[in-house]
Amino acid sequence: MIPDKAPEDDVFHGAEEMRRGAHVPTFDKFKELYMQSIEDPDKFWGDMAKDFFWKTKHTGRFLDYNFDTTKGDIFIKCMEGASTNICYNVLDRNVQDRKLGDKVAFYWEGNEPGDELTVTYRELLTSVCRFANVLKSQGVKKGDRVAIYMPMVVELVVAMLACARIGAVHSIVFAGFSAESLCDRIVDSQCSLLITADGFYRGDKLINLKLLADEALQKCTDKGFSLERCIVLKHLSKEAQEISLKSPPAKRPCPDLQVPWNPQVDKCWHALMADSSDECEPEWCASEDPLFILYTSGSTGKPKGVLHTVSGYMLYTAATFKLVFDHRPDDIYWCTADIGWITGHSYITYGPLANGATSVLFEGLPTYPDVSRIWEIVDKYHVSKFYTAPTAIRMLMKYGSEPVQKYKRDSLKVLGTVGEPINPEAWHWYFTVVGDGRCPIVDTFWQTETGGHVMTPLPAATPMKPGSATFPFFGVVPAILNESGEELAGTSEGYLVFKQPWPGVMRTVYGNHARFESTYFKKFPGYYVTGDGCRRDKDGYYWITGRIDDMLNVSGHLLSTAEVESALVGHEAVAEAAVVGRPHPVKGESLYCFVTLRDGVKYNRTLEAQLKKQVREKIGAIATPDFIQDAPALPKTRSGKIMRRVLRKIAGGERDLGDISTLADSSVVEQLFQNRCGAGE
Ligand code: PRX
Repeated sequence: MIPDKAPEDDVFHGAEEMRRGAHVPTFDKFKELYMQSIEDPDKFWGDMAKDFFWKTKHTGRFLDYNFDTTKGDIFIKCMEGASTNICYNVLDRNVQDRKLGDKVAFYWEGNEPGDELTVTYRELLTSVCRFANVLKSQGVKKGDRVAIYMPMVVELVVAMLACARIGAVHSIVFAGFSAESLCDRIVDSQCSLLITADGFYRGDKLINLKLLADEALQKCTDKGFSLERCIVLKHLSKEAQEISLKSPPAKRPCPDLQVPWNPQVDKCWHALMADSSDECEPEWCASEDPLFILYTSGSTGKPKGVLHTVSGYMLYTAATFKLVFDHRPDDIYWCTADIGWITGHSYITYGPLANGATSVLFEGLPTYPDVSRIWEIVDKYHVSKFYTAPTAIRMLMKYGSEPVQKYKRDSLKVLGTVGEPINPEAWHWYFTVVGDGRCPIVDTFWQTETGGHVMTPLPAATPMKPGSATFPFFGVVPAILNESGEELAGTSEGYLVFKQPWPGVMRTVYGNHARFESTYFKKFPGYYVTGDGCRRDKDGYYWITGRIDDMLNVSGHLLSTAEVESALVGHEAVAEAAVVGRPHPVKGESLYCFVTLRDGVKYNRTLEAQLKKQVREKIGAIATPDFIQDAPALPKTRSGKIMRRVLRKIAGGERDLGDISTLADSSVVEQLFQNRCGAGE
């Protein structure tokens, strides 16, 4: 399926019909606007800001910043002096000024086919106001942190926007994370309230979410932090039918649902909503007031609370959504990510709603009840813009084109990917089979930290190359540095950095500004360091080559090797652990763990199962090791540093180890090769 040419020479031009009416119709127009965005950011972003409602206007420069640790503290400020409310902008403004009250905001599609719900902008606004009043009645004030641990239901959007409406800071924890991960995040950001649900189904697996939430709160208490207010949405329990904005209970019975209830702490979402007024004046926030915290893996193991603020994030997610998906008013847009990740924050909630878009919100899995589910939903709602991850594409690709071609998909206009580099084979399958060769693919490179897309094609304008995120978005100035911090020109490869901020970049690591400075700005003063490697080709296209720190990308999710290692070492049988990535055809990378056991302990299947469980419980199912190898010793340098480069080769079965002269004992390597796991895969 892949043409017989180098990916660099494999160029696709957007279809002519895409150009008609496009926001950025040609590559020349892109270049012209890009230059304007760099030369006069105040004007460029100032024009974008005109679409929004500002209670007070900004006074100073549009963006003010310092990226150079040698010149003082790192800071980024956008539109200082302005005040606004993001919830007002994404809801009230649409209902009142743009007369979109009756427009559908979300088509909710449940895990179980047939579970569905339509929510208009007006209904969403009413529910958000109600819930904002609920939060106030529970004592939540501006600046307070609220933890949200919920499945993909409309009420998750309601909860986050209600926080934003009253100026509270949401901290959403992906519902696939463990109780321990939830606890760590609650404690780190000192949340005063938790919002969760009774349970949900992922495919045919029931997740007793309230049980996990209770376990997390108990762990918080054990750590000396008490959170005494928990609002529980009844999603699967029968009461769910009685509420105004209801998530219909899954049609299947759920006899195993367990909803322990502590009346001192737990409050029922529906009961609180029933007593709540639907009028709620928004809290006017300063531009740089915090909007949310979202945790992402850190290379030292402890997750970092990435903090985003109101105005810059609002503008940036709105602008990227509009231009990268070339949003049109009659689009039906669908992003398959979970709101628990940044992709869901920016491109399910804030970006689409800011544009008055109609989106599909999907609770389920691409493979449930069968591998055609995605395409069935595309046809059901006439999805025109579709955004997913390379790992999902590769997984569906395994089943061939028949499950896709059973459905028409003729509504599709733009396809998008995010989360990791897309391999050319998956790109071509996505382009030819899913998009019937008609739809441009926007390969969007960005991070939790960047708030929105930073390197991406624009669908009508940018000639695409499979596997390349192509060029920077407006206002973004990339550079490639070598190890000594020199900027490389022309064709080159090195560290991907950014030279100046854009409105949506993170402002700090919550509660730890020193960590923000040292993680992103210390290595190369004057630059934001992404942690990714990058290559620029002869035509100036950027190709992300993957992480260059101790981070793994499993199914588009970043995991820190240190965090998994510390979970393994937490088991009494383990003396030392080293975790590396091994290439995986669907997940991108899989987790390969080497463990050295304590003296006298024997490795066996029971221990292996215990270790996997240990990691699942400490972090979550996404971090479950794929392979665990008993390693009587690990390859170390004479100074005692583990040589991960060598372990990666062993895990991948590559015999060419390069220079290993610094190894203290090279016989260790041969021993590990002989006992490799999954050698036949
Ligand atoms: O390594 C890059 C990879 O994902 C990392 C960011 O992960 P996270 O903060 O979890 O956010 C994921 C969703 C935005 C990046 O440092 N990455 C993300 N998108 C791409 C990518 N690598 C290559 N191409 C992409 N399109």
